[in-house]
Amino acid sequence: SVLSLIAIDGPSGVGKSTTARRVAARLGWQYLDTGAMYRAVALAVLRAGISLADAAALEGLLAGLDLAQRGERVFLAGEDVSEAIRSQEVTRLVSPVSALPRVREVLVEQQRRIGASGGWVVDGRDIGTVVFTGACCKVFLTASPEARARRRFLELEAKGGSPVFDEVLQDQQHRDAADSSRAVAPLRQAEDATALDSSNMSLDQVVDWIVAKHQAHA
Ligand code: C5P
Repeated sequence: SVLSLIAIDGPSGVGKSTTARRVAARLGWQYLDTGAMYRAVALAVLRAGISLADAAALEGLLAGLDLAQRGERVFLAGEDVSEAIRSQEVTRLVSPVSALPRVREVLVEQQRRIGASGGWVVDGRDIGTVVFTGACCKVFLTASPEARARRRFLELEAKGGSPVFDEVLQDQQHRDAADSSRAVAPLRQAEDATALDSSNMSLDQVVDWIVAKHQAHA
């Protein structure tokens, strides 16, 4: 059966979350940021100081995991961690954390429970291939590595940082390589997804394209 849900997958820095949020607003749907869920687990791991090789400690952490998203904010055990999950430390730990099968099992189960009744725009790496294979509309959003690093660079600068372009590009390449080569749920385009290269498109154009794709389907 076909689920009324838009799955947006793609590499880091391609603008998935901004796009997904805007598409959801246009349709009057809700938005789920699955990357934020993996980031929150990475933050919890950092704070608890546990080793990723310690399966028992990890199991304990997952058993007590209390995640929520309200509007643009992300909560871990009731605490607003929206900024904390974007730190460089978390960004560097999130790929190894998200490669752990138990972490994926727990988060995928939560994601399915949230989106089951449809009316959601969900972004991530494995939404069309694993989490919601029955989604009506699957988009694989890409852009050139340089275009993505440039956007990320400008975003960090706008936040008052002084990023180095080559470092931003390198971090992004490491994360994409890790996300694409992991054994469980690697980043790849679903067979029934449409690829959209946004390198030379504005945000508005990308949003319009996805809304039109959904309307063509509905
Ligand atoms: O989307 P965002 O860059 O915030 O995602 C952070 C990380 O979470 C990704 O680099 C990836 O390792 C992981 N992730 C994942 N599966 C998803 C969403 C994110 O493995 N569905």
